[in-house]
Amino acid sequence: MMTDSTLDLLRRGYLFTANARRDRRSPREADAHPRYAVTLRLLGRPATVVGGSEGVRLFYDSTVMQRTGAMPQAVARPLFGRGAVHGLDGSEHHHRKSLFVGVLMDEERLQQLFAIADGLLVEALDTWRHAGRGIVHDTTVDVYGTAVMRWAGIELTQRDAARRARQLAEIVDGFATPVAPYARAWARRVACDRWAARLVGETRSGRRLPPAGSVLAEVASHRDEQGRLLDQHTAGVELLNVLRPTVAVARFAAFGTLALFESPDWRRRLASEVHERGSAVGGPLATAFTHEVRRIYPFVPLLAARAMHDTSFEGCPVPAGQRVLLDVLATNHDPQEWESPRTFDPERFLGTGAEWSDHFVPQGGGRPETGHRCPGELVAVGLLALTFSRLAQLDASLVRGQDAGWSWRRIPTLPRSGVVVEL
Ligand code: HEM
Repeated sequence: MMTDSTLDLLRRGYLFTANARRDRRSPREADAHPRYAVTLRLLGRPATVVGGSEGVRLFYDSTVMQRTGAMPQAVARPLFGRGAVHGLDGSEHHHRKSLFVGVLMDEERLQQLFAIADGLLVEALDTWRHAGRGIVHDTTVDVYGTAVMRWAGIELTQRDAARRARQLAEIVDGFATPVAPYARAWARRVACDRWAARLVGETRSGRRLPPAGSVLAEVASHRDEQGRLLDQHTAGVELLNVLRPTVAVARFAAFGTLALFESPDWRRRLASEVHERGSAVGGPLATAFTHEVRRIYPFVPLLAARAMHDTSFEGCPVPAGQRVLLDVLATNHDPQEWESPRTFDPERFLGTGAEWSDHFVPQGGGRPETGHRCPGELVAVGLLALTFSRLAQLDASLVRGQDAGWSWRRIPTLPRSGVVVEL
């Protein structure tokens, strides 16, 4: 009988799967020379780890894998909310997903979001100039949060928007960390659910008039496959599933700033790109830089699905009903897929199309329109690229002596200082 690894996962965080591969391989798995496969027990049930291109293709094969019952409720409920798109399957998923793809992958709407965010960021960097310094994570939580709420058609003062953004950031920060951060994440979840359901209710009753086509208007009027409006709670949950992850993009902004200040050459290249293009939005160099930030720094460690029928991976049997975990971090760093995987090198994304390869999965794999891949990838990449472009233009440096290290044991992790920049 295998011992249960749940506590080990909580204790080891991002190091969990590498450690499990080392320690817990069954004799059968060891014989098959797998690179990723290891079977362990989580929450009292066996689970098999998969990864690499082959693992990603299996994980996203919807004829073999389903999401119902895959993610433990203790994690899914505070993070995504009850009834969220993340846990749906089949046509119900496809229909709900079209709501997200429609609003989050439309070029014209995206450009409006980036223009709002860029304006707010320029203002925030002016405040830094007066103060002589600023904290990247805290500033981008406010900027991305305020931008996405405004863009979504939610009228709020900048102060209230920033307060809401911090609450959403606390959900992401605490959902997997006992005890106080987890309790705080739940408290924020309850408060934000109520707020979002109220926004939906007010929109439906005409007391609130978000612009046509805005995220709030679209979520409030979205109908399920049977033509019924989503119940108010679920509609609110899905509204938050646009707002919360946009705020979470701030985590990559903090990590990427470290990379930017460690690579003077890329800093120069990004600054001249803004100068030449006359815009900080959508620069190809900044976009390649962003992809490399998403590849190299830790955020999502694992994704969970469940096998619908018997299958196998790397010669290891995966019986029907078994949980399957996609090792996101190891796939992004796979030495058989990436040359010098530990080296920060944005060139690997310059005109190569590598951002759509099966072994690049910071926001999931497959296609967002047909599977569970993140529909917010263009949002995340666009916000990050404009942020790195603006930061590259500053005459600034990282504050010496700050603790910009991070824990590999805490999910999700973040540089402890939030990354402090001096101007
Ligand atoms: C830091 C940036 C982000 C990361 C690392 C990230 C990562 C992910 C991952 C790994 C998934 C799950 C894929 C799967 O289950 O197969 C996902 C799903 C999702 N993401 Fe993101 N995401 C980010 C930003 C965003 C943004 C900005 C939005 C919205 C504006 C968003 C909205 C969603 C939604 C709605 C889903 C559920 C999709 C589904 O189940 O079909 N994400 N994201």
